[in-house]
Amino acid sequence: MTIHPDYWNRLYEEEERPGWDMDSATPLVKELLDLAHPLGLRSGGDLVVPGCGYGHDAAELDALGFTVTGLDFAPLAIQGAMHRYGDRVAWSHADWFTTRLGPWEAIFDHTCFVAMDPARRPDYVQACADHLRAGGLWMAVLFHDVKGRPGPPHAVPVPEMRRLAETCFEVLHLGEAVNSHPRRSGREYLLVARKLA
Ligand SMILES: C[S@@+](CC[C@H](N)C(=O)[O-])C[C@H]1O[C@@H](n2cnc3c(N)ncnc32)[C@H](O)[C@@H]1O
Repeated sequence: MTIHPDYWNRLYEEEERPGWDMDSATPLVKELLDLAHPLGLRSGGDLVVPGCGYGHDAAELDALGFTVTGLDFAPLAIQGAMHRYGDRVAWSHADWFTTRLGPWEAIFDHTCFVAMDPARRPDYVQACADHLRAGGLWMAVLFHDVKGRPGPPHAVPVPEMRRLAETCFEVLHLGEAVNSHPRRSGREYLLVARKLA
């Protein structure tokens, strides 16, 4: 049951590098930041990475000058992130649905939304809106194809993603990812959305 931290913690326990871990930040960090820059997101802004895992994306965003919180509810994920990247990032052992940290200027979401049980998606979108300041941006990497596997990760059809996001956000970009990791090439798309007033 992916709703429980134990489910994820067990996966970190079983394998030092779980199947989703790329051992480095997604190449899509830059692609998403390039999309968000004209929308006002600048180096120095404060970002949260929900479901940060071992923290590669959070550390990359820190290196690019952002003030970053890396958040995960699996204790072994946060331990692994601290071990790899030290305290450059504010690591937080917390549940995305209930955390009282924040609000932030932007969310960098890579394999967290798609890791959710699909029944939780409306609540997840609401949580994203709740954790952002007025006008904040939600950036996300999503899968439209998971090669027929049962998940997680779960594929999200693009029209479904638009419908979900538009409950709380103005969708500013929804399109194919260009620079995916070769293992995920042709299967990822990007969302950039602004919290509705
Ligand atoms: C598929 S892994 C991806 C990890 C990381 N983003 C990466 O790409 O390496 C999903 C992560 O989301 C975390 N997660 C799932 N539900 C969560 C929740 N409700 N709150 C915080 N973290 C959560 C899991 O513990 C796990 O580390």
